[in-house]
Amino acid sequence: MLIDTHCHLDDERFGEDRKEVISSLGKNGISRAITIGCDRETSLKCVSIADEYENIFCAVGTHPHYADGFTDDDLDLYASLSKDEKVVAIGEIGLDYFYDFSPREKQKEVFVRQLHLASSLSLPVIIHLRDAYEDMTSLLDDNRSLLKNGIVFHCYSGSKETASIYSKYDAYFSFGGAITFKNAKAIYEVLPSIPSDRILFETDSPYLTPVPYRGQRNEPKYTNLVVDKAAEILHTDAEKLKEISTKNAFELFKKLK
Ligand code: NI
Repeated sequence: MLIDTHCHLDDERFGEDRKEVISSLGKNGISRAITIGCDRETSLKCVSIADEYENIFCAVGTHPHYADGFTDDDLDLYASLSKDEKVVAIGEIGLDYFYDFSPREKQKEVFVRQLHLASSLSLPVIIHLRDAYEDMTSLLDDNRSLLKNGIVFHCYSGSKETASIYSKYDAYFSFGGAITFKNAKAIYEVLPSIPSDRILFETDSPYLTPVPYRGQRNEPKYTNLVVDKAAEILHTDAEKLKEISTKNAFELFKKLK
């Protein structure tokens, strides 16, 4: 069995058949999925979905795209939502200088405030990072004491060198459908450089649909396709990777049951 460690089941593209998608996870080899909040509203929705379905867990937090609208109330809300037994992490949080939807200074401030929150709640953090490797490295260095509950870089797309820098924070690296894309050349260097006890898998559904379903809605069950590709790259057995990555997910997300 396999865990989709990062998806967005609150998305409106699951509005019509969410129940069917979730209830068919087991027969597709997916034991659990973690649905991830991006702001106040989606975090609330993720918690309610997780509370409704036994096999769904969730994370709450403000994505860098929405950092500009972040308030103290949001921090209080996430703290109170995190008391729910199904909330396993703070996320997704981070920096995105590719889109720059929020001012960079604000992205940094909101990221660090949520690192403090996660630390105070003894929860791991799920990091979204795009085109901001230098600033991320210095923020992690400055706030190292806040990282003790674990961090994961979701849909990791950085270099092998950056991965080795982040490994000093005992980071996990999660891989999604992007590793199946034709232009994903770097992954052949990056993936083998990650210790097997630090690898996670995800879909980021409904986004980033893997080959051969590109153009269609992504779903948690396609985590299987990501693992198949990873097994091919690593010259290993997919079943073994499923077992290892599931164990890793339980190590990182201590509230997973
Ligand atoms: Ni995401």
